[in-house]
Amino acid sequence: MADESQDIYYVQGIPVPETPLPGREPPAWKQTNVVGQRVPRVDAYERVSGSAVYPSDIHLPNMLYGAILRCPHAHARIRSVETVAASKMPGVRAVISGTTPEADRVWKKDAAGETRLFDPHCRFEGEAVAAVAAESPYQARDAINAIRVDYEVLPFVADERKALQAGSPVVHAKGNLSKTDTYERGDVAQGFAAADVVLDQSYRTECELHTPLEPHGCVANWEGRSLTVWESSQGVYAVQSKVAEVLKLPLARVRVIGHYMGGGFGSKLEAGKYTVIAALLAKQAARPVKLVLTREETFLAVGNRPPSNMTLKAGVKRDGALTALEFSCLGTGGAYPAGGTSLVDWLIRDLYTCPNVRTTCSDVFVHAGPARPFRAPGHPQGAWALEQMMDALAEAIGMDPVQLRLKNIPVFSQAREGNPAYTSTGFKECLEQGAAAFGWEKARRETGANAAQGPLRRGVGMAGGLWVAGGGRPPSTVIVKLFSDGSVNLNMGASDLGTGTKSVMAMVVAEELGVRPDAIQIENADTGTTQYATPSGGSKTVPTEAPAVRNAAVQVKQKLLEMAAEALKADLSELAYQGREIVSRRDSSQRIAVKDLDALKRQGVVVGVGYRGPNPKNKVVNPFAAQFCEVEVNTRTGELKILRFVAAHDSGRVMNRLTYDNQVFGGITMGIGLAMTEVRILDAGQTGKMVNRSWHDYKLPTALDVPADMLSIPIDPGDAEANNTGAKGLGEPVTIPTAAAIANAVYHATGLRITQTPIHPLQLVQRLAERRKEG
Ligand code: MOS
Repeated sequence: MADESQDIYYVQGIPVPETPLPGREPPAWKQTNVVGQRVPRVDAYERVSGSAVYPSDIHLPNMLYGAILRCPHAHARIRSVETVAASKMPGVRAVISGTTPEADRVWKKDAAGETRLFDPHCRFEGEAVAAVAAESPYQARDAINAIRVDYEVLPFVADERKALQAGSPVVHAKGNLSKTDTYERGDVAQGFAAADVVLDQSYRTECELHTPLEPHGCVANWEGRSLTVWESSQGVYAVQSKVAEVLKLPLARVRVIGHYMGGGFGSKLEAGKYTVIAALLAKQAARPVKLVLTREETFLAVGNRPPSNMTLKAGVKRDGALTALEFSCLGTGGAYPAGGTSLVDWLIRDLYTCPNVRTTCSDVFVHAGPARPFRAPGHPQGAWALEQMMDALAEAIGMDPVQLRLKNIPVFSQAREGNPAYTSTGFKECLEQGAAAFGWEKARRETGANAAQGPLRRGVGMAGGLWVAGGGRPPSTVIVKLFSDGSVNLNMGASDLGTGTKSVMAMVVAEELGVRPDAIQIENADTGTTQYATPSGGSKTVPTEAPAVRNAAVQVKQKLLEMAAEALKADLSELAYQGREIVSRRDSSQRIAVKDLDALKRQGVVVGVGYRGPNPKNKVVNPFAAQFCEVEVNTRTGELKILRFVAAHDSGRVMNRLTYDNQVFGGITMGIGLAMTEVRILDAGQTGKMVNRSWHDYKLPTALDVPADMLSIPIDPGDAEANNTGAKGLGEPVTIPTAAAIANAVYHATGLRITQTPIHPLQLVQRLAERRKEG
């Protein structure tokens, strides 16, 4: 074993940023030395070797396995649940249902009414009805099958387009209209009258499922009156508060740990019923319970990107100036919406300069699984409409699609009260540098329906986007500890979704303290031992947490400088922290190694506590994007191949170029799924049940669907206002323009405007055949 106790923590010869005087926060970095580099993940070994412990890997002594019985009907009322036979099955240690006194709990109260943990009124296929804990997962499943439920099967509505029709079955007592949001500025009628060209088009995106690699689930364990939950979660504090609320426990007695997790994409932002169910089973059995959902359950019950039915009418002048946008959307949050059903119209409101805009978005209830936020909620749907419309408008006025967008770039947020300016917008650079790297103009000339001969048609398309958020939402607290030997510990509550959060935060500490990122010990995502953080989501983890991490590291430096001033009997203002040593700027023979500071030895550890302040007042922090792609369509088979992608993103400062590019390539892959392969199919006519609830029948894009030729072009506008790191967030922006860019490329290749996802071969051959018939 290598001797790790030497001062190998320090990076030689790399300057560290200047330290502000105590009590002051550091200004935005001008230049960085560690941040921005391609740094492998600090936990890469654990991840690839399999030694990283995910919640689904947790194995406790005496642990039982839980399983949930779920309603097989889209809509039913439970007359009775008979669990006696199940409780006598081999290995069964606990059975609970809505009639178990301890399990008879309110799950949620909102505008639609009150829902119970085991609700006798099942409003979607997959609603929890009862649960079992047994010695083995198989015994638990067998016992589930032995529970007898008497259902009164009720009529259902599973198609949101039918939910408001007269006589439609009703989901909640208040009726099937969940809400209608409207937005208006200017006068769209005047705008259309002033336009040279007006186009009107309907669009639809299908329901997409999150399908994280690690299914949702947890292990629950009671020690006396205290509960510990290991949960695959985006936010341990969010799980803690929901579990405490439903079980009526003090927060301090609910500990939630989520050191690793295998993907969430928005579907693991909050606790699921399974978490509370596992805790109740563990309580009844007085043993730990592991409850990990099956893949099928994750398809039914824990979230989706809901379908969107959109219309967009747009007016433009010959010179490319937009005069009016009118948008409507009919969407659904399923039976129990939770966030993420709005924002479909955000790009229409705010992406391009346009004086006259009106949007109307209605959400209806249907008897189907609940929607959850899904990687850039609403935005890819809105982009599917707006960015195809921009493509069509450009053609109609004979302008290049990139030029049309450049003509309408916003400098402030038009849709927000008071029209606040953006702290930075690199949208122009995204469009220009992306187009240059792609070879846009040449590719546009040399491919396309007019340039093509034979059955293989190539085309290029592009789309732009912005993401509505950019970090903030304080408070966020982080602790950095420097021990007497100079080694460092970083303590933060945020989860690392697999995006590389831990690595980026270690780089921030490394930047300030001059230590190696992999020499920093990280404790995270544990409500028992780490500091408060909101869930990792909204692409805000880096822009929210990194400034707090930086503030904590800077505080450590300030305290070390104070110790050195005392030791060297020097004035604080003349000393410079250099990593291993603290040196006088006046007299370089005046220096002391951090390890030799007596005060540090006495104290044992220096603690820096960093907070995240609010985002700047009256300013908006938003990331921007432009993506370009080339496709090939086989007009005989309808096969669509993506040949290459160029993604130019203004997400502010690049924190780690490796994890940055990971997000770009992964986000495009997810966008390809929305565009080409993914659709939840409900048997809306006969049963309301989902028919493709497996990874075999629900088609995720595979390596063969994703181009090997993907280029990530970071645009860093040097944002000194957003926060003290200049990062604006990347995970979600990437997924926004992708599907629309593909549709635009398909149009360029074939002349077919595909307005409905997914663009699969069946749809393409049908459309091509129709066109041949029309001659
Ligand atoms: Mo995201 S949809 O906020 O995890």
